[in-house]
Amino acid sequence: KKWYAVIGDPIGHSLSPMMHNEWFQQLGIDATYLPIHVKEEDLEAAVASMKLLGISGFNVTIPHKEKIRPFLDALDETAEKMGAVNTVVRLEDGRLKGYNTDGLGFVRSLEEVIGDAKRHEKVLLIGAGGAARGIAFALESIGYTDVTICNRTVEKAQQICAELTIPAQAISLNTASEQLDEYAILIQTTPAGMKNSQVTIPFSLEKLKSSAIVADIVYNPLMTPLLQVAQDKGATIVSGLGMFIHQGALAFEYWTKQSPDPTAVKEQLLTHLG
Ligand code: ATR
Repeated sequence: KKWYAVIGDPIGHSLSPMMHNEWFQQLGIDATYLPIHVKEEDLEAAVASMKLLGISGFNVTIPHKEKIRPFLDALDETAEKMGAVNTVVRLEDGRLKGYNTDGLGFVRSLEEVIGDAKRHEKVLLIGAGGAARGIAFALESIGYTDVTICNRTVEKAQQICAELTIPAQAISLNTASEQLDEYAILIQTTPAGMKNSQVTIPFSLEKLKSSAIVADIVYNPLMTPLLQVAQDKGATIVSGLGMFIHQGALAFEYWTKQSPDPTAVKEQLLTHLG
């Protein structure tokens, strides 16, 4: 029997074990997926132990996505560029290689709702942390051509823009709020709206176009305050649940070379979310 895991701190509320075990079952794969609580000071030992015990692959979640890099044997290009790993694969020779499926997972979930016909429209990313970086590179890689990043710390947005090869600009949250009617797609990447998060961003949707698409990476709760306002204004909304499912599906594909059905786990996940 093969075994897989997700490591993080905390880890108790992770929905990944439910999702991956469901997919293993659906596809008749003899494997199990466990949540493992790993404290930051134990990360190196935990990785070495899992390797020794023959783990076939694992996911990495907060707060270990960046710190795990030196403990892996190899990193793929995207994980390298993002400076963060969310998926680890045991290669045939036993080495552990890190990948990052978060950004592409987000773009897949977005296009599941809006299709691929809007790749030349103006996209606004809110936030410039690790999640925004991953999404910006994934948008670029899939053919989006016009990205603006707004952030409390504009320098961090500028840094990401400088690394992109498509036209990209960094602006303040204030400027973004004022120019909101210029954007067709908005993507919220900060912890604002997340259960138990104190973060509120000084950002107004007053000028949002009713034809806009508003996506949030937060999925607990499914309906964030931002999405609620956007929906009330007639916009199309995309919750973060799709990103969670698709980042997992991409990891699953790396591990098993099989494609799980993203919709097959949705109902089950929904019963665990508010
Ligand atoms: P992640 O890696 O999950 O994306 P992160 O790197 O901590 O997380 O980034 C969090 C994002 O939320 C950043 O864009 C951060 O803004 P700064 O770059 O200015 O720090 C944003 N953020 C967090 N708290 C915020 C707040 N109170 N107001 C505005 N933005 C906030």
